[in-house]
Amino acid sequence: MSAGGDTGLRERLEEAGQGHLARALDGLEGEARDRLRAEIEALDLALIRRLVDGLVGDDDHGVAGEIAPPDPAGVIALPRGPEDEERDRRAREAGEALLREGGVAAVLLAGGQGTRLGYDGPKGLYPFAPLTGRTLFSHHAAKIAALRARYGGALPWYVLTSPANDAPTRAAFEENDHYGLAPESVRLVVQGTLPAVDAASGEILRDAPDHLALSPDGHGGLLSALASSGALEEMSREGIRTIFTFQVDNPLARVCRPELLGHHVLAGADMASVVVRKLTAEEKMGVIARVDGRTAVVEYSDLPDALAQQRDAEGALVYWAGSIAVHCIEVDFARRLTEGGLRLPYHHALKKVPHLDADGRRVEPGAPNAVKFETFLFDALPSADRTVTVEAAREDEFSPIKNAEGSDSPATARRDLNRLHARWLEAAGVPVPRDSGGEPVDVEIDPRVALEGPDLAGALPPGFAVTGPTVIP
Ligand code: UTP
Repeated sequence: MSAGGDTGLRERLEEAGQGHLARALDGLEGEARDRLRAEIEALDLALIRRLVDGLVGDDDHGVAGEIAPPDPAGVIALPRGPEDEERDRRAREAGEALLREGGVAAVLLAGGQGTRLGYDGPKGLYPFAPLTGRTLFSHHAAKIAALRARYGGALPWYVLTSPANDAPTRAAFEENDHYGLAPESVRLVVQGTLPAVDAASGEILRDAPDHLALSPDGHGGLLSALASSGALEEMSREGIRTIFTFQVDNPLARVCRPELLGHHVLAGADMASVVVRKLTAEEKMGVIARVDGRTAVVEYSDLPDALAQQRDAEGALVYWAGSIAVHCIEVDFARRLTEGGLRLPYHHALKKVPHLDADGRRVEPGAPNAVKFETFLFDALPSADRTVTVEAAREDEFSPIKNAEGSDSPATARRDLNRLHARWLEAAGVPVPRDSGGEPVDVEIDPRVALEGPDLAGALPPGFAVTGPTVIP
């Protein structure tokens, strides 16, 4: 008996160096065999062959091209004086006009596995808020609601999921009444997957007898998912010009910040990126740079130490512009990129991937054993004719939840959001009690009350005071 009765499939697997999967199929019957065969048939074996042949080291290091600092003409730094403030005011007007005319779609990247956080379920369902326990999805949804109320534009919300977290994400949106948003305005798009391969042999791993060890194909998978699901066409039909992308794990994300949208529009950019100043040369952030003259993000692991440490005459880092993975992308640019198949580079990383060994026993590896492949959204930058990079204040916009503890964890994100809200209140003339270390008491402000600090002034009742932990609903 051939692989599931399919000699063609067996031949293709052997040719791709994945003959072990044909033998795995031979060992299964009935529905289990059908399930595994369906997964195998969905694989792009030619691509996997190419990726496995291209494996040279453990993780991929090195950028093919000459790295130079970003072009200052394409960088909008934080305002340093009245002229810059005027510049940002004009940008805000342009961004607000785009929002008012319904020219924007918000896209939340939520297809990741969240392995470092170790939360059982989609990261968007992580109850991060200190007082209300509200989830990341609920918090971001409130921002979308506030933007719609303020600007009146349709602002459809696309949420990128992956096969592993799509069902629980969908269920959560249903159960929570789409967090108060019109159901048809929240559109889930499922990204593709790629199999993990054994680091030594390049063989595709299975994590169950009838299941390949598949993981999402990286946030770069957004573009093909938007194209293949018809979302890009839908956006064009609905008059949407610009996609705003943000990540589920950054509660501080300033969704559709008008100044950013405006700088993007006024620059006539295909793609815009938000950056913050790196805190140290060693900080693990990708930086905006030029590679062979084109705007690109160079990952921290790809930036040679000598460049990472390089400083200008004032002592500031030359490669200072750490990307916080917030972008504006023109719909037309995304369509051009995806027509005829998207070609973002594949990155690979060595990971611990539970799998079945040759005897069919499940192995929980203690050390990295497998290679995963991913594409990154920022790798679309070099294909853009025009880009713009906009600096943001880290304390206002960026504090991601990556790890369970320590840096970039729920504790640091809560702290940073709390500090931000306390600053807003204080700027609105409301004193906030602080402990002996200067940390404010917990204050939670619903984005529908204030999307940004100045909104608070008109939103608080006369005599409003904070005397202890406070929720401003
Ligand atoms: P990260 O690369 O930080 O990964 O994703 P992660 O999946 O959240 O966590 P780890 O690495 O497994 O611990 C950054 C953002 O990109 C999204 C994530 O959901 C997160 O919002 N993402 C990542 C996708 O949407 N798809 C992917 O394939 C990968």
